[in-house]
Amino acid sequence: MPVAREAVLDALRKITHPEEDKDIIRLDMVKDLTIEDDQVSFTVIVKQPDGPFANQVEEACRRVLHEEVSRSLGVDVQVDSEMIPLGDDLTVGDPGGEKQQTSGEDGVKNTIAVASGKGGVGKSTVAVNLAMALSEQGYEVALVDTDIYGPSIPKMMDMEGEKPRVNDERKMVPLEQHGIKLLSMGFMVDPDQAVVWRGPMVTKAVRQFLGDVDWGDVEYMILDLPPGTGDVQLTIVQTIPLTGAVVVSTPQDLALADARKGKAMFDNVNVPVVGMVENMAYFTPPDQPDRKYYLFGREGAQDLARELDVPFLGEVPIEEKVREGGDRGTPVFQAHPDSASAQAFDDIANQLVKQVDLRNAEDDPTQKIEILYE
Ligand SMILES: Nc1ncnc2c1ncn2[C@@H]1O[C@H](COP(=O)(O)OP(=O)(O)O)[C@@H](O)[C@H]1O
Ligand SMILES: [Mg+2]
Repeated sequence: MPVAREAVLDALRKITHPEEDKDIIRLDMVKDLTIEDDQVSFTVIVKQPDGPFANQVEEACRRVLHEEVSRSLGVDVQVDSEMIPLGDDLTVGDPGGEKQQTSGEDGVKNTIAVASGKGGVGKSTVAVNLAMALSEQGYEVALVDTDIYGPSIPKMMDMEGEKPRVNDERKMVPLEQHGIKLLSMGFMVDPDQAVVWRGPMVTKAVRQFLGDVDWGDVEYMILDLPPGTGDVQLTIVQTIPLTGAVVVSTPQDLALADARKGKAMFDNVNVPVVGMVENMAYFTPPDQPDRKYYLFGREGAQDLARELDVPFLGEVPIEEKVREGGDRGTPVFQAHPDSASAQAFDDIANQLVKQVDLRNAEDDPTQKIEILYE
């Protein structure tokens, strides 16, 4: 029987780095993972090649894989020292001709864009509750609102009117709410003006906005993108080196057609879609807890995920509490942890972590793309 990739990762999660007190998958130390039949091979990247951990990790990997996955598994482990990351700085051509360098991603491990083709499908709602779920699961999380047309994260997180401060090094300090670091382009850009912006202006604003932020350590940065797949969205996904994208859709045909465009946009810039989320999947009346009404059609996003060969992360029902949470700045994940939607967000966060871990272990990081405007 072929070995499941998830089972291999789950086994390796049992190995903890003693100094960091986190497992080697979470620390992103496993690279070049390949699994063929019953042969697993990968490299563990260590900071100190002569340290005690480096000397033990190979044997530890072999042991957990034999114990947790299969005794007959062939395990080929290389131990290598940390590579110097390529292109550490974000280089983006400037419309004025002058090239600038910004490294806005200091200490930021995974950047996940939440996108949708169509507006109003619940992209911001998913971004907020996904961030909350990841944070609850123990990850360091940042939430960034890049929706210059309709920045809604500050309201959904009850941070309207707050402004980030600037520290002694003239870097912006993200706001913090419910343990999540938070920034919104809405702090910098007037949505009424942004409507007429073209790519180069957006690039400039995004770069300025994200370029000089004191993020500290962040394991998951969730970026809420503006709805659509035009010039502006393309610019943002090229300006920020993304680990992956999550596409949100309702089961409705119109939304699905736009979700398809979203996938195509990410394909164009070589950003993997690490999952699709079906929002507003069904409605269960409170007095009929066993019924599911498929108001917008049934399992459309799930089918589309299968067709496009992207992982399906889960479905979120329509619940009044979700909308209420958004309007009141009390995300449903926190306000009603036992609700069906909160549970759904928890599952979706779990699935997302699995997909991101697989991506990081199997593939090279997304290359930062150089954008040059004539
Ligand atoms: N699963 C859901 N159940 C009920 N209301 C929802 C759900 N998802 C989103 N909404 C509501 O739908 C509206 C649009 O959601 P929003 O997240 O702002 O969409 P987008 O960011 O895609 O434009 C908001 O009022 C939000 O509270
Ligand atoms: Mg939104």
